Amino acid sequence: METTFPYHFLWGVATSAHQVEGYNFHNDSWLLEHTPGSPWCESSGDACDHYSRYREDIALFSTLGFGLYRFSLEWSRIQPEENEFSEAMLNHYRDMLMACHEHGIIPMVTFHHGTSPLWLVASGGWEAKEAPARFARYCARVAAHMGDLMPLICTINEANGPAVGAALSGKEAVRSARRAPWYKAAARRAGSTAGQFVPIDYAYTKRGRETILEAHRLGFDAIKQVRGECSVGLTLAMEDIEAGPGGEKMALRMRRELQDVYLQACRGDDFIGVQTYTRRRFDSTGILEPEKGVQLTQMGWEDYPMALEATIRHASNVTGKPVFVTENGIATADDAQRIAYIKEALLGVAACLRDGVIVQGYTYWSGLDNFEWRAGYGPTFGLVAVDRKTQQRTVKPSGHWLGTVVRNGGF
Ligand code: BGC
Repeated sequence: METTFPYHFLWGVATSAHQVEGYNFHNDSWLLEHTPGSPWCESSGDACDHYSRYREDIALFSTLGFGLYRFSLEWSRIQPEENEFSEAMLNHYRDMLMACHEHGIIPMVTFHHGTSPLWLVASGGWEAKEAPARFARYCARVAAHMGDLMPLICTINEANGPAVGAALSGKEAVRSARRAPWYKAAARRAGSTAGQFVPIDYAYTKRGRETILEAHRLGFDAIKQVRGECSVGLTLAMEDIEAGPGGEKMALRMRRELQDVYLQACRGDDFIGVQTYTRRRFDSTGILEPEKGVQLTQMGWEDYPMALEATIRHASNVTGKPVFVTENGIATADDAQRIAYIKEALLGVAACLRDGVIVQGYTYWSGLDNFEWRAGYGPTFGLVAVDRKTQQRTVKPSGHWLGTVVRNGGF
């Protein structure tokens, strides 16, 4: 074997509740999926029916060799109304955690991954001054119910996601989305107004950014107060930001605004979650399209696995904290391309480890082919295919390949 990983290195797969569970009716994504004219191309529907099939899925991940499963809690199930917590749903997630432990899998639980309860987004959402305390209350309740089974916790998935989204599509595009008829219609259906209806993806304003970071801070403290022994961190969308011709200043600025502000805010956490898929190049005016001829993924992103090494090093330098690769992967129908991508990305992880950078684990996105938000079920990131009609799972060669890497501790 040429590339080896430490014995204690954690290997996992990741999913998020809304993308795999199915029938999540009480959150903002479901509402937007069902609002005519919105950019969501289809309904998440039954997704992968992971809500019912989590025991089989966890057993499958374990059989393949994985020792870690990163999944998220659906806040809108646990707290469907501001003053109502569901004991049954809390128990459901407790059972998921139990299933992981029974299969020798360490659970890594994300408390917020993309979706929010309707009551929250309809009342100022992620720009409301009450949002951080609301999030912390939910965190405290969850930690009290099942913190004993949660060694690793991510508070908010890609806290910088709204800022990155605005930078990629242009602030004006996001601003105009919030004025669009479909946005107003969604707000009305939630019993709110466009000004008061703020799903996390649309909280790209300064106020939104500050609210999200404050929610992380209060959520972190709330969890620690109940369960000091849990290891808690935040995850960030960390594309490798590079300078194209003449783009040095712009790349520096983008790295500062989209990553460093957040990384610096995480210096007191237990770890930093790095999520990397590709690179973005900038010139002096903005984003450069991928160069002609480079291979693109189903998302239209450049197939550029080398991005991971750069982002791990950057996150480690700025935070001084252990890094966890909480997401890395590729959307492709060509599974050989997936294996090549993962291999190259892992070479980068190994190089970081050799240089003494602390990387605690690698989590592939995604365990299952799942609901890719606005893009629906088209893009396939999974190591395991899911038949959309029968829900049958089929492990792809990449799933077997990565499982073998895990079992051998390298390749
Ligand atoms: C998100 C996932 C998403 C993946 C691929 C990450 O930004 O956390 O929910 O499916 O990227 O787009």
